[in-house]
Amino acid sequence: MNTYIGIDLGTSGTKFLLVSADGAILAENTQTYPVFYPHAGWSEQSPADWIAAAERGLERLLAGQDRAAVKGISFGGQMHGLVALDGEDNVIRPAILWNDGRTEKQTAYLNRIIGREKLSAYTGNIAFAGFTAPKLLWLRENEPENFKKIAKIMLPKDYLAYTLSGTFCTDYSDASGTLLLDVKRRRWSAEMCSLCGVSEAQLPALYESYRPVGTLKGEIAAKLGLSPSVKVVAGAGDNAAAAVGTGVVGEGGCNISLGTSGTLFVSSAGYKEDKVNALHSFCHADGGWHLMGCILSAASCNAWWSDKILMTSDYAAEQAGAEDALGKNDVYFLPYLMGERSPHNDVNARGAFIGMRPDTTRKQMTLAVLEGVAFALRDCLEAAKKNGVRIGRTKLCGGGAKSPLWRKIVAGVMNMPVELPQTEQGPAYGAAMLAMVGCGEYASVREAADAVVRVGETVLPDREAAFGYADRYALFKKLYPALKEFYRSANL
Ligand code: XUL
Repeated sequence: MNTYIGIDLGTSGTKFLLVSADGAILAENTQTYPVFYPHAGWSEQSPADWIAAAERGLERLLAGQDRAAVKGISFGGQMHGLVALDGEDNVIRPAILWNDGRTEKQTAYLNRIIGREKLSAYTGNIAFAGFTAPKLLWLRENEPENFKKIAKIMLPKDYLAYTLSGTFCTDYSDASGTLLLDVKRRRWSAEMCSLCGVSEAQLPALYESYRPVGTLKGEIAAKLGLSPSVKVVAGAGDNAAAAVGTGVVGEGGCNISLGTSGTLFVSSAGYKEDKVNALHSFCHADGGWHLMGCILSAASCNAWWSDKILMTSDYAAEQAGAEDALGKNDVYFLPYLMGERSPHNDVNARGAFIGMRPDTTRKQMTLAVLEGVAFALRDCLEAAKKNGVRIGRTKLCGGGAKSPLWRKIVAGVMNMPVELPQTEQGPAYGAAMLAMVGCGEYASVREAADAVVRVGETVLPDREAAFGYADRYALFKKLYPALKEFYRSANL
């Protein structure tokens, strides 16, 4: 049987999956690398680390496997990152990541001086600090020498695709997050390019996520023991790839991802725009579109709380026994460790615990962290509802979805059934599915999803917990507005 490689170039590491055409997982591994925080609110990575991870990961993935069966390879990738190459294809500076908050001034310029209406007309979106366009403006202002050197602008997964295939390309879903794409018309926006001082020649060629962009470079194929005819398929931004992987394609599906970031992703057959731009209006990897809310810190909040503060890696032990307290916790946590994207669009927001008493326990604080993330995602759900979107159930994926407690919290806070796919491999699985479609194994992304994605477990909301969460969410909603001015002046 033919096999396909799905790669998810994430923030904490890159995941490699080898999947057979019927959807079975044959091999997997993850290679990690560091994130650098050179200043408060900044976040960068070295593209060389991604390539080194790919060399290690692919070699390990293929060890002992039938290499002749591999037909295609595709990608999911952390979105919005600015990777800039000079005329000799050297990476000019470290990549500036999706959760980097340095562009407050440039984001304000775009939203206030150019104006939200114009941005929305050009792209379907307004500026958020992590998007690529404000980063280009920042570079032009703060590192003009680097800005002048730019010959190619890429997103993280596109740098890997370029290294493997030599094709300078991206896909519509990932390109949507640059704020340089006219999302409705699926083409680069001439107005946005001109505003950011870049030309279309510096931007990658645009493809649907399931289209082949080329084949493996001869020397890379030889090194990996693969055929040089292995197709490289465009791939998608990680959230679109994850949605493909959970079968959220076509009209009206919902996927919640609890990764480093948290997202609420609503698929749509036609173009939709959030009236107040709290949610992103992006292209989907199935040829359609989606609305998405993104919170910058999700599973990363639990990792921070457990690893750094409680100094334990045993998350299950930490969460054991907290179920009785669902919907009853009086401690609140604001998950804005890296500022917040949806819906507040505030780089100055920070994390906060509220409501502790002398009898407050460690367990309540752990629970508050998980609940705070779910409440922030509920903010995104409320924004989707304001746009007339009706969601009755959701898929759940990402590292955080492994926690049975967190699944129940999400079901209770959203007050809807939460479905967990049988094969929970996130964006890498969706990427492998895109490779299948690109190689003709399935006629469309929908067909691939119908063939390989199955729901494993469904978590129903507990009635009593959901009542408690409805009241607590109403209180949670008051916290950010109460702290907003403090965040602005405290400069944390
Ligand atoms: C989406 C976003 C994040 C990253 C994480 O807009 O910024 O979900 O894609 O990898």
